[in-house]
Amino acid sequence: AVGGTVADSKAVSVAEPLLLKAVRGDDVDRPPVWLMRQAGRYMKSYQMICEKHPSFRERSENVDLVVEISLQPWKVFKPDGVILFSDILTPLSGMNIPFDIVKGKGPVIFDPLRTDADVDKVREFDPKESVPYVGEALTILRKEVNNEAAVLGFVGAPFTLASYVVEGGSSKHFSKIKRLAFSQPKVLHALLQKFTTSMAKYIQYQADNGAQAVQIFDSWATELSPVDFEEFSLPYLKQIVDTVKQTHPDLPLILYASGSGGLLERLPLTGVDVVSLDWTVDMAEGRRRLGSDVAVQGNIDPGVLFGSKEFITSRINDTVRKAGRGKHILNLGHGIVVGTPEENVAHFFENRRKISRECGMM
Ligand code: CP3
Repeated sequence: AVGGTVADSKAVSVAEPLLLKAVRGDDVDRPPVWLMRQAGRYMKSYQMICEKHPSFRERSENVDLVVEISLQPWKVFKPDGVILFSDILTPLSGMNIPFDIVKGKGPVIFDPLRTDADVDKVREFDPKESVPYVGEALTILRKEVNNEAAVLGFVGAPFTLASYVVEGGSSKHFSKIKRLAFSQPKVLHALLQKFTTSMAKYIQYQADNGAQAVQIFDSWATELSPVDFEEFSLPYLKQIVDTVKQTHPDLPLILYASGSGGLLERLPLTGVDVVSLDWTVDMAEGRRRLGSDVAVQGNIDPGVLFGSKEFITSRINDTVRKAGRGKHILNLGHGIVVGTPEENVAHFFENRRKISRECGMM
């Protein structure tokens, strides 16, 4: 078997990151690899920063800390994508929605939005004015990573952001946003439109400052039944993609919606370039259902990283074989779980060099 080492050994001299080539459908020797939530709590080096800087908002809004944390996994594992350390909620304060992320509790929105008047108070987002540290950090990351990997930005999708600001934080039953959706849909639509306009602008801003691909997280859209997804999420995602493609036609957009097995055929209708699958979908079936235009990302169960090294290798090979050659970004089906052994993460990344054409890249 011919090992997929070519891209690794030439990584320093490549003009274009492997991830961008793979998304476009170029002939690549192996799939690019990065992990959702690769910067963060499973790394000891991150926990050490948390001790010194206990506030999440400080860690995610200070240029030096953002750059340092984003580069922690890059320095150790050399992933093919380096994601900005930030949060989907970061734009909220710039939209006049005060929030915090509290240890042990998660996101907290101080004044949840429930009424027309609340939605009226939401300001449209001006990234340059409100989050200049994001642009500065992305620019530094691009220099540091120097095209050896793709620098990835991200945003929250309108429905997912709306669910946080209406519920007031994380939620189990999503009863407050559903009450709004099903009794005062106009109010929710007005809020979704504000997030849509703002997030399209935010993606453009991230791209202008160095992001080479941007992932849209619609983590909670799958709490909606398909008809409701078609009303409250899909049109807004499509509008974001349309708006961004007008100014940045070559910027790859990745859509992640966990638990989207019931919606797969609808996701490419958004116009995104890549759909990120969770692990409840078989990769081969997912590929078939998504069609051949769109690239796929994923979709290994994050829990696999608690298994033996042999087991991790076998699951990587299985996923790569099922994804077929090209248009695949190897990733987990959701973020790395706290407590994942760092040596298993290292093993996951090392394995990419062993992915051979024989094991599925043909
Ligand atoms: O992937 C990366 O390495 C980039 C960092 C990143 C964070 N949040 C940092 C973070 C990304 C991509 C996100 C996105 C995000 N934030 C999503 C979408 C992804 C998904 O998992 O579906 C969502 C839903 C959020 C909202 C949010 N922020 C939650 C639910 C939490 C967890 C709360 C908790 O205490 O467990 C956060 C906090 C957060 N964002 C942490 C990190 C590393 C953990 C808190 C910390 O490190 O102090």
